[in-house]
Amino acid sequence: MTDIDWEGLRTEAISAMRRAYAPYSNYSVGAAALVDDGRIVTGCNVENASYGVGLCAECGLVSALHMSGGGRLTAFVCVNGQEQIIMPCGRCRQLLYEHSASGMLLHTVSGIRTIDEVLPDAFGPRDLEEARA
Ligand code: THU
Repeated sequence: MTDIDWEGLRTEAISAMRRAYAPYSNYSVGAAALVDDGRIVTGCNVENASYGVGLCAECGLVSALHMSGGGRLTAFVCVNGQEQIIMPCGRCRQLLYEHSASGMLLHTVSGIRTIDEVLPDAFGPRDLEEARA
């Protein structure tokens, strides 16, 4: 986990951001993540004339994760149209949490953080299992 190529991951996020479809907000986002088998998956935001239907970049990234073989996310970064690192929105932190490896790292506006730091006391699959037991 310590030898993560953050600059390479950010470059992938920038490439993804350039494919964004964001004609309504004019706010392009690209996301890139490392998978536990070494793959990199990416996504961009895809908006819609029905504004609420718009997809965050992380949605595309999670779809790409499953379409390319599944696995767990170990490192993540997302950028805006100015190539600046941004925080994943609250909904997308939940989305990432579901598919995270334990100790997943995020390059954030305040440095490298763990998924547990950016989504403390997260609700997750275990809560459902415990309720069923
Ligand atoms: N957006 C993302 O793609 N990911 C985030 O984590 C934050 C917000 C997108 C959604 C919308 O298309 C645009 O940024 C402006 O909110």
